[in-house]
Amino acid sequence: MLELLSATRFEKVMGSGRTQPCLLVCENEAGEEVEVVAKLRGHPQIMPGGLLAEAVASLLALDLDLPVQTPYRIAIERAFADTVPDAGLRAIIQKSVGLNFGCAKWAPGCTIWPRDKTPSRDMKQSLMEVFAFDGLIQNPDRRQINPNCAFLGNDLVLFDHESAFSHFMSIVPVVPWEAGGLGFLKDHIFFHALRGGNLALDRFQGALEAIGEARIAEYIQSIPAEWNGQASTGKKIQTYLTDCMVNFQGIRLQLETLL
Ligand SMILES: Nc1ncnc2c1ncn2[C@@H]1O[C@H](COP(=O)(O)OP(=O)(O)OP(=O)(O)O)[C@@H](O)[C@H]1O
Ligand SMILES: [Mg+2]
Repeated sequence: MLELLSATRFEKVMGSGRTQPCLLVCENEAGEEVEVVAKLRGHPQIMPGGLLAEAVASLLALDLDLPVQTPYRIAIERAFADTVPDAGLRAIIQKSVGLNFGCAKWAPGCTIWPRDKTPSRDMKQSLMEVFAFDGLIQNPDRRQINPNCAFLGNDLVLFDHESAFSHFMSIVPVVPWEAGGLGFLKDHIFFHALRGGNLALDRFQGALEAIGEARIAEYIQSIPAEWNGQASTGKKIQTYLTDCMVNFQGIRLQLETLL
C-alpha cells in the first residue's frame, strides 16, 4: 500500500516546521527519481505514533478521494545519512536509519492557505469534506495559526496528519458521534467559512461506508511496526475507524450542530 523508496540525495529542510521535514530525492524500485518531503522517525519532535497517524490518515484520505500527496515508506541507509552536511540534522537522520514516512513534493505554485483567505463558492464542498475528515480522524492541527493546508487554484493539498487520532492521548476520550466530541473543530481553519452553510456530505459518507472493515485492517497491516507509538495503537485506530463507519450518521449530526 505504501510504496517503498530509497533516499539517495538530501536537498534541504522544509520551512520552519517543528519536526524539520526534509526534501529528499529518492529512487523507486524501477530506478526512477521521486522528490519527497520526509518526516524523520528519529526526530525528537515526532510524537510517539506520529508516523502511524500520518500514514493511516493519508491512506484513508486517498480512499475518500481527498487531496493528499502520495504517501511512501522512505528507506534511509547509514551511508545516505552520513552525507547530510549539518551535524545536528545528520545525527537525527542517522537515528532515522530504517523506514520513515514521506509524501510526494507538491507542484510548484502551491501555496500555504492564508488565514484570511475567502474561499470561492466552488471550493465550499471541498472545504466541507476536509472539515468532516478532520473531525473523523480527530485532527486538531489544521488551525488559523497552523493551516497545514496548501492550494493551487481551486485545488487543495492536505498535509501534516501527525496529530490525528489525538483522542487516544486524552485522559477521557470523547468519540465524535457524541455531544462535544467535535468541539476542537471550532479552531479549524475552515470553521468560519462553513458556518451556517448547508452540509453536503452524501458523497463523503458513501465513500467512507464503501471502504469497509477489511480495507481498514489492511492500512494498519501495511504500516511498519517501528512507526507505532505502542504495539496496540494501530489496533485501536482500526477499531475506532470501523466504529466511525458504523456511526457516521451520528458524526454528521454533531457536525451539523457545530456549524
Ligand atoms: N508534500 C509537500 N510538498 C512541498 N512542501 C511540503 C510538503 N509537505 C510539507 N511541506 C512544507 O513543509 C512544511 C512543514 O511540514 P509539516 O507541517 O508536515 O511539518 P511540521 O514539522 O509538522 O510543521 P508544523 O509544526 O509547523 O506544523 C510545510 O509548511 C510546507 O511548507
Ligand atoms: Mg505542520
